[in-house]
Amino acid sequence: MKVIVTGGAGFIGSNFVQHMVNKYPDYEIINLDLLTYAGNLENLKPVEDKPNYKFVKGDIADREFIFKLFEDEKPDVVVNFAAESHVDRSITDPEAFVRTNVMGTTTLLDACRTYGIKRYHQVSTDEVYGDLPLDRPELFFTEETPLHTSSPYSSSKASADLFVLAYHRTYGLPVTVSRCSNNYGPYHFPEKLIPLIISRALADEELPVYGTGENVRDWLHVADHCEAIDLVIHKGREGEVYNIGGHNERTNLEVVKTILKALDKPESLIRFVTDRPGHDMRYAIDPTKIETELGWEPKYNFDSGIQQTIQWYLDNQEWWKNILSGEYSGYFDKMYGNRL
Ligand code: NAD
Ligand code: TYD
Repeated sequence: MKVIVTGGAGFIGSNFVQHMVNKYPDYEIINLDLLTYAGNLENLKPVEDKPNYKFVKGDIADREFIFKLFEDEKPDVVVNFAAESHVDRSITDPEAFVRTNVMGTTTLLDACRTYGIKRYHQVSTDEVYGDLPLDRPELFFTEETPLHTSSPYSSSKASADLFVLAYHRTYGLPVTVSRCSNNYGPYHFPEKLIPLIISRALADEELPVYGTGENVRDWLHVADHCEAIDLVIHKGREGEVYNIGGHNERTNLEVVKTILKALDKPESLIRFVTDRPGHDMRYAIDPTKIETELGWEPKYNFDSGIQQTIQWYLDNQEWWKNILSGEYSGYFDKMYGNRL
């Protein structure tokens, strides 16, 4: 089986590539990534010399390149992680999100139609459902919840999902879509909440919490997300959407305080800053479908997963310090300068 994983040098993609290369030595895993600011080949060090792993640099929105790659490789399965993934960046530069997240997806779908494929899997997000109110804790996102996006990021991901499902209905393309809640774990780029707080707290720097910090996210360890996608591509039904989440809701302030406690740092580092425009209040996944249909269950809860993650950031300081001193340098001042 030959699998193209796009975006395999990013956070979740690199965890998934490592998972697949190690678990399926008889599969060929091709990691296709443009190596934007978020792509980092250091994330693949543990598997880079394995015979069933190959890296190809390229753009999923470059039609000529993608068609040539499919012509040469004739993949059986495509798993599309490649995306612009940060909500804050989508607010300052929406167009990049349309190009990669929408046009990149349709380019891959067209190549799959042209060259044939056993399965195209789209890695999507619970953010396509919009948000839930804080005072209705009984509400959760199911696969039937209408799409109702808030940010340019979530709008681009919802558009991509609709194209994927339309290619199934219109052309019979064998597709699946998974919509996961917020991930955390090793190799998480330090512009996102959890690694940003860990790295800044270790440096005794101010910790920006948007608005009041009451917004709720449903956190899933990246290893559990990778297991779920593995199950969906092997056993999921064509044309279906699967929600992935483990009922680990926390307010942002709870997350920040948990990290500070584990690192023995003072809460006086917290700074409440101007809120993100259009900031979603609460995400919460109902994972009943993937649990009952595919037998998925997460191995981590938030309490065990966050301790493992903090330990990973303590043990791998060179990994994130290289990022902070490289492409990322200047980002924090540019995005947060007038807020802190
Ligand atoms: P990331 O930003 O860490 O990684 C994205 C990867 O895609 C990078 O390696 C980047 O170089 C690559 N890429 C970007 N544009 C590309 C292009 N045009 N062609 C080829 N490669 C390109 O993202 P992530 O957090 O790992 O998210 C991966 C996927 O999972 C995304 O589709 C995202 O929407 C989805 N998702 C993320 C989360 C989360 O909490 N991080 C939750 C649910 C779903
Ligand atoms: P983020 O990690 O960007 O993921 P998403 O926006 O996709 O949920 O943010 C998680 C939550 O943390 C979100 O409610 C915004 C908030 N947040 C902060 O309060 N401060 C920060 O510096 C960042 C990056 C996020």
